Amino acid sequence: MIITFATQKGGTGKTTLAIALANYISTNSERKINVFDFDYQKSFYYKWKEDEVLEIPKLYDVEIIGEDDGQPFSDFDTLIDLKESEEINLFDLAGTLDAKYSDLLIYSDFIVIPFEYSDVSVKSTLVFINMLGLLESEAERIFIRSKYDKGYKYLNQEAMDIELAKYGTLLPSPVFKRNILQTINTRNLAGKHKYAVENTLDELLKHINENSKIKIEILKKKEKAKD
Ligand SMILES: Nc1ncnc2c1ncn2[C@@H]1O[C@H](COP(=O)(O)OP(=O)(O)OP(=O)(O)O)[C@@H](O)[C@H]1O
Ligand SMILES: [Mg+2]
Repeated sequence: MIITFATQKGGTGKTTLAIALANYISTNSERKINVFDFDYQKSFYYKWKEDEVLEIPKLYDVEIIGEDDGQPFSDFDTLIDLKESEEINLFDLAGTLDAKYSDLLIYSDFIVIPFEYSDVSVKSTLVFINMLGLLESEAERIFIRSKYDKGYKYLNQEAMDIELAKYGTLLPSPVFKRNILQTINTRNLAGKHKYAVENTLDELLKHINENSKIKIEILKKKEKAKD
């Protein structure tokens, strides 16, 4: 299966949420996850390398792709193999559109699109959705409200939510703006980091499981075992 974190807008939380999801699946499910950093900035990959100092065993490997001139996969079959694999192949993309992303965006099973309600972000998100349409992408679009400010009344929220719902699924729980998420690492997901993303990730996995042949079964959680 291929899950891709992408949008047209930089800094919306793609890498942060991709790390959170990769950690969450690795620590709560038996399914193997492979991470592919397809961003020229290589944020996910560098973070994963830097985290070696934590001396905590790695949860997964992170591969860099797109180094050479626009040939991300050795051939088309490699992409289809990743799609048909029972393993979870997670891609983190840059916040800019690039022709080299086309095949991946077409053949991903799910594209996770974190967005904010600022005017700039809203426009970029709509441009990105439009581009997925032009590509005739097969992927299911999943929208996540990211860096959401609890105390702020977003005037365009209702209209934007209605618009997004035409193109995919908008997860009910936002990921709130929390400084703690700036210190997320690639080796574990615990305490405040987990708390900051858990509801959203549970909804994301539930949606994926309901819409995919491959299920990501979450091992029973301790704190939920009580009820
Ligand atoms: N929910 C959040 N609350 C507070 N800060 C956040 C949150 N999510 C992400 N950030 C911070 O915002 C910045 C951008 O996040 P991130 O790198 O995940 O975005 P991105 O979409 O991957 O960016 P790029 O387009 O550059 O790849 C980072 O400093 C990150 O720590
Ligand atoms: Mg990023």
